[in-house]
Amino acid sequence: MTYHNKTNRKFLRQLFFALSIVILGFILWAAVQYLFFRPDSNTITIGTFSQYKKNQIIHKKKERFYIIRDSSGLYAVSDVCTHRGCMVLIKGNTFECPCHSAVFTLEGRPLSGPADKPLDHYYIYKNKQNVLVVDVTKSINKEIRYSE
Ligand code: FES
Repeated sequence: MTYHNKTNRKFLRQLFFALSIVILGFILWAAVQYLFFRPDSNTITIGTFSQYKKNQIIHKKKERFYIIRDSSGLYAVSDVCTHRGCMVLIKGNTFECPCHSAVFTLEGRPLSGPADKPLDHYYIYKNKQNVLVVDVTKSINKEIRYSE
């Protein structure tokens, strides 16, 4: 009887120790994943250059920019109106703001309405996996295009 109680207690202690190690390992693994490997919300992957056809326009609504391929290459232009921040929408060959009717060229230059600043263009680069990435923290010159 006593022998069994000691054996049971020893087994339970070892089981508790093993479970504690597993739980601590999981917490440590989750913390490392969160701190070092979480996706950066300022950099958005957009695929490869060849998947965009000339004159194609893709709206990344959630990320708040358009990807446009013109005759010189690819560019990422903000959909945030420079007047008061509404989402500009494609209307023919221009962007139009539904809030106060500002109109921009597809390059983001203001044409009419209350917005007097151009839409931001964002830096596009190719990452180590050969995938294009838009960095929305880096505004670049409106003339720059990504091309291959
Ligand atoms: S917010 Fe776009 S015109 Fe006012």
